[in-house]
Amino acid sequence: MNINYHFDYPCLMYSQLPEDIFEELNNLPNGAHHGNKLVGVFPDEYKLPIRKAPLFRDFIICLSEAFARECSTAPVFHQIRQNTPPNTPFKLADLWRNEMYANSYQPLHQHTGLFSFIVFMDVPYTHADQMKLEPNVLPEHVKNGFTEFSDPFSMFNKLINVEKGIEGQVILFPAWVNHVVYPFKGFSGIPRVSISGNIVLDYGTVDGAEHF
Ligand SMILES: [Fe+2]
Repeated sequence: MNINYHFDYPCLMYSQLPEDIFEELNNLPNGAHHGNKLVGVFPDEYKLPIRKAPLFRDFIICLSEAFARECSTAPVFHQIRQNTPPNTPFKLADLWRNEMYANSYQPLHQHTGLFSFIVFMDVPYTHADQMKLEPNVLPEHVKNGFTEFSDPFSMFNKLINVEKGIEGQVILFPAWVNHVVYPFKGFSGIPRVSISGNIVLDYGTVDGAEHF
């Protein structure tokens, strides 16, 4: 698979989902409630069936391989490869949908596994909308709905303006990178929808190997 991406070294890889893969994700039915396993301060978090998303699974594995290639000389990835059997593949291990309404937020947290990702599916507001809802705040101080990443190892820090138009964008990052989702305001009853998940090294396919 040939994927276009932009790499914000050493932490964030951005890509745009092709339309057919976006539709595959969009049509996945919500599974069990996933809120007990996740840190989001909102109720609507649902597991999604990975087996029903073969196109997305191939896409995100391919993007993870690109990330590992780009970072192969970075100390942490070098160390992981040194301690991993050769050709250990990546696996999509968890997939869930977040439906966030006004004032929902995700506090600073990390994920498990090797890589994690966010796919933006539906964002109802623009940044201009959010600035209008904060008339007494300097416009440049308004971070409503932004996602902020912070890597404890490289000190990399990035604020992503998540607003209408970002739909279909994928952000892939190492699972240990801290991130926070700031709440948005207004748009009563209309959710901001994203899909997230984790990628792990699949030792199950490496027979009898010691692993990292
Ligand atoms: Fe997260």
